[in-house]
Amino acid sequence: MPLPKVFLTRLIPEEGLTLLEGAVDAYVWPEEMPPDREALLERVAGVEGLLCLLTDPIDAGVMNAAGAGLRVISQMAVGFDNIDIAAATARHIPVGNTPGVLTEATADYTWALLLAAARRVVEATAYARSGRWKTWGPKLLLGADVSGATLGIVGLGRIGQAVAERAHGFDMRILYFDRQRKPELEQALGIEYVSFDGLLREADFVSIHTTYSDSTHHLFGNDEFERMKPKAILINTARGPIVDREALYRALTTGRIAGAALDVTDPEPIDHTDPLLDLDNLIITPHIASASRSSRGRMAQMAAQNLLAGLRGERLPNCVNPEVYD
Ligand code: GLV
Repeated sequence: MPLPKVFLTRLIPEEGLTLLEGAVDAYVWPEEMPPDREALLERVAGVEGLLCLLTDPIDAGVMNAAGAGLRVISQMAVGFDNIDIAAATARHIPVGNTPGVLTEATADYTWALLLAAARRVVEATAYARSGRWKTWGPKLLLGADVSGATLGIVGLGRIGQAVAERAHGFDMRILYFDRQRKPELEQALGIEYVSFDGLLREADFVSIHTTYSDSTHHLFGNDEFERMKPKAILINTARGPIVDREALYRALTTGRIAGAALDVTDPEPIDHTDPLLDLDNLIITPHIASASRSSRGRMAQMAAQNLLAGLRGERLPNCVNPEVYD
């Protein structure tokens, strides 16, 4: 029996590749940049499995180009807003993702950004390197207090919960807003449910952990920044388009909010001439919140396991459209 043909849109960590060895006939896209549309359409033709990343727009056109033999789409990420799930479901193709294994790394990184933004770590590093550091200054690079401050978590999924757990070490008041209130978690996590408006008005740090969809597109715009505290700091490790970048620029340059730290941007990557990059009160990193060695290894492993299960006709260990099995 020939091995099932699969396309991997990028070289993934060893932990995943090892599982695929001898089990599939794989073409692995060898470049650092993702395949462009033309290459993607060409490479998926005739495959039975597709292992993709959040940088690959997987729509009906791609599924059609693959053909009727496509049996599984496995995304190496927890988010899957780059995939047209309705189109996959309509074709009875299960789509896998990698939840859980990146929760701790992403929560840790959210805290790295929060602390760095509050205490101006990036600015301070640039200052020390620039030769401007002449003496200890009583008012040099003063930042925001984290201990005892109020944290607002938007979206109480796995990552939002892990961020909340860490906040206890800083003795914070922890508020959350989620479309669905989760009373069973409130006592255990020591968190209070508030309206979105209440969170915006009360939080000193607002951290975004919601998924991206039409309903969260530009969830943070002019109106929301108007309602936040002038000393508030916004952290986004979820998806770039949840924040309206023009409104953010306005809020940061007019002092509507004090600062922001983004691991995700809109578009991604951000254009290097974007005026946001000139702001001292903004930290931007290149979508690396889940990028700890073990987390990326486990994501690759889980993506490979989803792919192999789909090829064997078994239920994916982590399937985002389980309705395909109805
Ligand atoms: C990263 O952003 C992911 O969705 O896994």
